Amino acid sequence: MSRSAHPAGPRHADVLTEGHYSAPPADLNTLDGKVWAQTVTRNADGVLTVGGVDVVSLAEQHGTPAYILDEADFRGRARAWRTAFGSDADVFYAGKAFLSRAVVRWLHEEGLNLDVCSGGELATALSAGMPADRIALHGNNKSTEEIRRAVESGVGRIVLDSFQEIVRVAHIAQSLGRRQRVQIRITVGVEAHTHEFIATAHEDQKFGIPLAGGQAAEAVRRALQLDGLELIGIHSHIGSQIFDMSGFEVAAHRVVGLLKVIRDEHGVELPEIDLGGGLGIAYTSDDDPREPHEIAKALTEIVTRECEAARLRTPRISVEPGRAIVGPTAFTLYEVGTVKPLDGLRTYVSVDGGMSDNIRTALYDAEYSVALVSRASDAEPMLARVVGKHCESGDIVVKDAFLPSDLAPGDLIAVPATGAYCRSMASNYNHVPRPPVVVVHEGESRVVVRRETEEDLLRLDVG
Ligand code: LLP
Repeated sequence: MSRSAHPAGPRHADVLTEGHYSAPPADLNTLDGKVWAQTVTRNADGVLTVGGVDVVSLAEQHGTPAYILDEADFRGRARAWRTAFGSDADVFYAGKAFLSRAVVRWLHEEGLNLDVCSGGELATALSAGMPADRIALHGNNKSTEEIRRAVESGVGRIVLDSFQEIVRVAHIAQSLGRRQRVQIRITVGVEAHTHEFIATAHEDQKFGIPLAGGQAAEAVRRALQLDGLELIGIHSHIGSQIFDMSGFEVAAHRVVGLLKVIRDEHGVELPEIDLGGGLGIAYTSDDDPREPHEIAKALTEIVTRECEAARLRTPRISVEPGRAIVGPTAFTLYEVGTVKPLDGLRTYVSVDGGMSDNIRTALYDAEYSVALVSRASDAEPMLARVVGKHCESGDIVVKDAFLPSDLAPGDLIAVPATGAYCRSMASNYNHVPRPPVVVVHEGESRVVVRRETEEDLLRLDVG
């Protein structure tokens, strides 16, 4: 789902009927720094190393498939977002992209806040020591139990998503003798340029309360009347994997417009606005994501300008990047099992994972890159499709890519930019255990989420 054209080029006339390919890269051994974690390089033997550890020893020690995550890169990106927004803004990492206790500790240490969207994510955050007041709870249908736990633990904010929830959270907070800080999530009516399933600010969808027809203003009216709630701001999240800043511009304009309506009607200037996450990353060499400092500058300028025009005090801004922090920091390491050339079409390369560890290709038509990483090769490029071991022909990890034509069973290949929404959306389809998350840092590797075992699967089967 990167917005790029497909990266691969035609090898046979028949393939041209599908249309999308450009020429193969000049050198298949070159690793494009845009799509790989920061410390990735090839050593003198041509083996990919990350965090000072080579992938052949990672595979020996931890098995394949495995998600390999570069701690220095994660911390560096988290810090870059924090620094870019400065002390007048808050950066909430969106835990849905990938969450584990190690990640929570890094975020805490790097000064970020955390957005959680379920009881499970909240429990992970609290168990790893994230201070509750730095946590925001999201979700379009939070259970009573999730709300109660959030209020009791003292989360910094709950983002309200419906009229029912306004009443529900107020009631629970009051019954616990609390006044809960809340934001109201609105839909501003922006069509974000991304896949339909991850666009979230047009009106015809399940998230938020529409600005249109005065519904958002009515939600504010009700929230301000309830003793259990302290309304601190308005929230907007327009979608995911977005490169074009114009959607954020329109969203900021409309959110500030609502702040003005609220000021005029209630004499209240809400102190915060949250512009959500959604910033795109490079999945292929054709993608050109923006740097955090450019994004921070653009968003801050838009909000400041809009507030000046509306004669409002500039509210404290918060953002919720998930993919842009964790996405580029990890790759999935697979072992090649079979290589099947189909005459006049392409070569199918089967790996030991698939749609259970990366559903994004099947679900969103997402594009990925891939490289042979256990050795260098000067063989001719071949047009390949990397597929998994599941019982579906749609079990595709990388739809079109060039790999060296001497690729053979036992080779290791890696798919970069799988840090976001791969482990967190992984499944046990076909009773395939989910891969581990292995962190590499300064020459060492350690497992932070262990590989699932068949015993884990059988433990749940209590019939
Ligand atoms: N804030 C809110 C309220 C969200 O709903 C999301 C993502 C984020 C922040 C973080 O968005 P990010 O910066 O990571 O794009 N599974 C899909 C993405 C779903 C995003 C859901 N909400 C995918 O794999 O592309």
